[in-house]
Amino acid sequence: MTDSDPSAGISKAVYGLLAVGSLAEDGSKDVMTANWGSQISFEPRLYAIAVQSDSHTAANIKSTGVFSINFMPGGTHDLALKFAAHSTSGEGRLEGVEFATHETGAPILKAAVGWIECRVLDSNQPGDHTVFFGEVIDGGEGPAEGDPTTLAAIDLSYAG
Ligand SMILES: Cc1cc2nc3c(=O)[nH]c(=O)nc-3n(C[C@H](O)[C@H](O)[C@H](O)COP(=O)(O)O)c2cc1C
Repeated sequence: MTDSDPSAGISKAVYGLLAVGSLAEDGSKDVMTANWGSQISFEPRLYAIAVQSDSHTAANIKSTGVFSINFMPGGTHDLALKFAAHSTSGEGRLEGVEFATHETGAPILKAAVGWIECRVLDSNQPGDHTVFFGEVIDGGEGPAEGDPTTLAAIDLSYAG
């Protein structure tokens, strides 16, 4: 048995690499790197994400009540860092990035290997992130070919 170290323990959690798309009331779109996301119900089909409460993304999701989740493949390390830089203006992080929109208007990235879009049913702020509970209203494979990656596989981490 090793010494107790909650930070070391939680750092072994396995996460997929996500890009959370969002939409402001003025129609401008944004995308943010995240990994704290998971399906949390079959019926209804719910997906929850934890977003820094003071982030641009959280403000967008609070105001329009929608978000997209882009499941990202390997080889997107640089894109993940671009999407993790603080956004200064609405479309800043999406400049030069190809995307489409579906029902909600939140961006679906061409580089993603799977996507869903959600309408927020509920939210809670038990700590320093706001958890948004989204009902999955659409989704699909692609548009890119390949498998989703993990944070460990592309040498990034966000846990502790
Ligand atoms: C690998 C990685 C994973 C991240 N995961 C999350 C996450 O799950 N939730 C979150 O709120 N921020 C996460 N971040 C941090 C945000 O991407 C970053 O703070 C971003 O600048 C917030 O953008 P905004 O304030 O402009 O919306 C992660 C960053 C990296 C590099």
